[in-house]
Amino acid sequence: DLAAEGGCEHLAGEAVARAGRVDALVAGAGIGWAGPFVTMPPEEIDRVLTVNLTSTLRLVRLLLPPMVARGTGRLVLIGSMAGWVGVGDEAVYSASKGALLTFADSLRRELAGTRVRVSVVSPGAVDTPFFARRGTPYHRRRPRPVSAERVARGVREALVRGRENVLVPGWLALPARLHGAAPGLFGAVADRAAAYGAEITRLVDCR
Ligand SMILES: NC(=O)c1ccc[n+]([C@@H]2O[C@H](COP(=O)([O-])OP(=O)(O)OC[C@H]3O[C@@H](n4cnc5c(N)ncnc54)[C@H](OP(=O)(O)O)[C@@H]3O)[C@@H](O)[C@H]2O)c1
Repeated sequence: DLAAEGGCEHLAGEAVARAGRVDALVAGAGIGWAGPFVTMPPEEIDRVLTVNLTSTLRLVRLLLPPMVARGTGRLVLIGSMAGWVGVGDEAVYSASKGALLTFADSLRRELAGTRVRVSVVSPGAVDTPFFARRGTPYHRRRPRPVSAERVARGVREALVRGRENVLVPGWLALPARLHGAAPGLFGAVADRAAAYGAEITRLVDCR
């Protein structure tokens, strides 16, 4: 349990003890929580941030120094499209994943001149037990859930090529860039789409 006291230290220690050294970290542990932020229990805020953000940072802190000393290594952080654009009803989840993007950017500056590469693989929706576990099903029409294998191929791409950002599916790079370049326009389009989606749901519920 990475959220438990000493959990990250235990995992990193076990990995080094068993393999001798760690060449690559794929930090994928994560949990979700969906609903209006004003209704989110404070302990759930802590839990999401601890698992998604703090434990990832702690694992990197534990495993990065030997990579820097050897001059080579790979860090692959599993982000989310929610971290690029901020998704309604997933404010803390989005914040935890957005923080990983900024963390990765900062780390790249610090690691310039080494051959340690930092990648973030950001899926849209993936067909896993994630939504059942968070207790709220996935209800958006787009992006359609992709397979975990497709995300795994993105992770492989990051590991082999050291690509900084991998979005899965690839077309999500477009809204991510639009959000970066014109956040106001993106917000207006997202609000329109959400209102349209709510209206469709209402009509279907009325039938
Ligand atoms: N599914 C999606 O639509 C989606 C979209 C974008 C990003 N992601 C991200 O992809 C990653 C993997 O999620 P998933 O879709 O595969 O969901 P999942 O099926 O629920 O898997 C979550 C993984 O995180 C581990 N985990 C959760 N809490 C942990 C803790 N306290 N300590 C150690 N491990 C813990 C789980 O381990 P156990 O099974 O042992 O509990 C499991 O391996 C997450 O970071 C998630 O945010 C998912």
